Amino acid sequence: MVENSQVERRLLVCQNRTCRKQGSAKILAAFQAFDTPNIAVEKSGCLGQCGNGPMVLVLPEEIWYSHVHIDKVSAVVEKHLLGGVPVKKMLYS
Ligand code: FES
Repeated sequence: MVENSQVERRLLVCQNRTCRKQGSAKILAAFQAFDTPNIAVEKSGCLGQCGNGPMVLVLPEEIWYSHVHIDKVSAVVEKHLLGGVPVKKMLYS
């Protein structure tokens, strides 16, 4: 179990209206299904990028992912969260 004091990073998945319509609830559940030590996976309110969702934001490095598809969640977890290398093709630009 990860205690709050050990959490170094956070991954936010927008759960506001527009992103929810684009399937963000499933994206949040998919991220939460992975064991990501020291990374808190949390829902967030609107991230101000409506229409590009589901939106995902990784903190504190402020890396944004847009149009996150459920098939790509594992790539973000393995390459970015665990491996430290953001998935360039999925970055929000
Ligand atoms: S509803 Fe997700 S960014 Fe606004």
